[in-house]
Amino acid sequence: MTNDHTASPALRAVRPPATLRGDVTVPGDKSITHRAVMLNAIASGTATVTGAGLGADCLSTAACVRALGATVRRLWPTAELTDDLRRDPVSGKDDRADAVLIVEGVGLTGLTEPADVLDAGNSGTTSRLLTGILAGQPFFSVLTGDASLRSRPMGRVVEPLRAMGARITARRGDTLLPLAVAPSNLRGRELAMRVASAQLKSCLLLAGLYAEGTTEIVQPEASRDHTERLLAAQGARLNAEGLRLRIEGRPALRAVDVRVPGDISSAAFWLVGACVHPNARITVRDVGVNPTRTGILDVLREMGATIAVENERIEGGEPVADVTAESSRLRGVEVGGATIPRLIDEVPVLAVAAAVAEGVTVIRDAEELRVKESDRLAAVASELRRLGAAVEEHPDGLTITGGRLTGGEAESYGDHRMAMSLAIAALAAAGPVLINGGECVDISYPTFWPDLERLAPGSTREL
Ligand code: S3P
Repeated sequence: MTNDHTASPALRAVRPPATLRGDVTVPGDKSITHRAVMLNAIASGTATVTGAGLGADCLSTAACVRALGATVRRLWPTAELTDDLRRDPVSGKDDRADAVLIVEGVGLTGLTEPADVLDAGNSGTTSRLLTGILAGQPFFSVLTGDASLRSRPMGRVVEPLRAMGARITARRGDTLLPLAVAPSNLRGRELAMRVASAQLKSCLLLAGLYAEGTTEIVQPEASRDHTERLLAAQGARLNAEGLRLRIEGRPALRAVDVRVPGDISSAAFWLVGACVHPNARITVRDVGVNPTRTGILDVLREMGATIAVENERIEGGEPVADVTAESSRLRGVEVGGATIPRLIDEVPVLAVAAAVAEGVTVIRDAEELRVKESDRLAAVASELRRLGAAVEEHPDGLTITGGRLTGGEAESYGDHRMAMSLAIAALAAAGPVLINGGECVDISYPTFWPDLERLAPGSTREL
């Protein structure tokens, strides 16, 4: 299987619509879906994952855990189970909405040696979390990914895993995929994380499950805590004290049903879209509002956005709500420090909000954006400039002086969040925007274009 979404870019046109209105539900949270599939695959028993996101990234995780011996199938309304997670078995059409997955776990020590190289596709989360699991196995494995993922840093996970006793080698001085993992016995120890990354933290927690004794992880800043929540529900012995996490090795892990909320990182496109459009009101239903993920809501509000969070409740251990945004007069703000990990994936679309706000927005401490699916600081700066924005690039951020977006042609760089951010820029622009490489939305939000067309009829088409 290859997930290279940079293959043949299609041109997508988005025209500023007269109105932008309606209700929308976004795909299930990508981070939670990855974890629900991966952690239940190494648990004992069968778990139902309701509302799973089925973007290409989550399908990469499912394919990898299958290759390691666990079973992941999709339950259809007819109570039929299918191995094809993408297609409706009756119509044969690509259908990746509201999926219910059934994961049959093999138990903590039940994974088996994969017969071939594991392919994480475009997915950083698949590659980092899986490496933590592979490090603790009594068998050999090799992991790779698409061209974008093969350029993203793996040294941050390889180094601490080696300190735990893992035997991992990787390309370019053990820093890049592909990587190879040989059998080893992991030992728990104290590990200080170099970056505030939830993928790194989760990788180490997963390796900690296989290690002898206690693994202690010290984080520089808080980041999304979905792994901690799910592991605790599965019976792992996990303890959190401020930024310090402690996990005991070799617990009995039981399968746990997961209800996946809508992905706030996908909802963010519509929330910003509504704020920047002059005649808009959008409600995103059933969105995850875990406080480690809601930086975008805080910053938009600070910018003067009208945002309502309603019907807040806890579902499957995660806070969920309906979030409504409407046309707002935005003003520039300063964003940095501990807020960055809480909105790390929303910076490109936040930059769109900043480009039409009154005054100057400064984003700092966001150097991690340089090693995402694209160099998002460079990509945002160059592509928003092409659409008429005033953007200055810094090593760790951006300074954006708000004004008017004219429209024009821009490049997604095969990065799903860039493609969707450019579409949102088009909603607030004076003229149409042509996006080169719009199909990569498939990575996290396969129904993005039809949803845009529903909220703003006549606004988009593929050329
Ligand atoms: C994720 C963590 C973040 C985020 C990514 C998903 C996760 O990456 O950008 O989209 O699911 O843990 P980092 O851990 O590299 O910050």
